[in-house]
Amino acid sequence: MENQFYPMPRLGDTAPTFEASTTQGKIKFPEDFKDKWVILFSHPSDFTPVCTSEFMTFGKMQKEFDDLNCQLIGISIDGLYSHIAWLRTIKEKIEYKDMKNIEVTFPLIDDVSMKVANLYGMVQPNESTTTAVRAVFFIDPKGIIRTIVYYPLALGRNFDELKRILIGLQTVDNFNVALPADWRPGDDVIIPTAGSCGVAKDRMEDKSGNIHCYDWFFCTKKLSKEEVESKLGK
Ligand code: BEZ
Repeated sequence: MENQFYPMPRLGDTAPTFEASTTQGKIKFPEDFKDKWVILFSHPSDFTPVCTSEFMTFGKMQKEFDDLNCQLIGISIDGLYSHIAWLRTIKEKIEYKDMKNIEVTFPLIDDVSMKVANLYGMVQPNESTTTAVRAVFFIDPKGIIRTIVYYPLALGRNFDELKRILIGLQTVDNFNVALPADWRPGDDVIIPTAGSCGVAKDRMEDKSGNIHCYDWFFCTKKLSKEEVESKLGK
């Protein structure tokens, strides 16, 4: 049978709207999460090991994402009773690494109909026709999709990287800068390439010691960790 074609949302698109039942009640997306960042992420299946390790990690880090004004929302093609039973098992029975008694309090969407998973291109038939891949959508407070990351079924996500992406997006927006490879708060940031040679020349000749140009098209400036942290969550 031919796979049905579902268009996939892309960076810069408005996040597709939907209504769904979740472990925390019904939601209207994204309108219930106005003025917040959202990480909407899919997992292949409840009661599977990689997904369990991921949910425990997100559950453990939940306060860190709350502090960044970010709502976590999970989704899989399982029903509500499966979700509830799985999350209860995680809390009551699973001890993994330094994590135990982990309570997941962010919503987990019941998507047995695959409506939301298809809307977001989370089912990628050459990987699996029956489950969602590990997709992660970063949606900003204006409802715009800012980053999408996909992982395959067999590889658990890197949660430090997911947090770094969120902090990076908030830093880009608040300071009008770009961020170099492997950037972390406190590292130098990139001054977006100027439209005129005059500006580039000024930057090349900056005497303040704040700006460093490697060439006319590649200038960085200092941005302290404290300054970045003062704007996080905005
Ligand atoms: C897991 O979460 O362990 C998993 C789920 C689907 C396929 C492979 C692994």
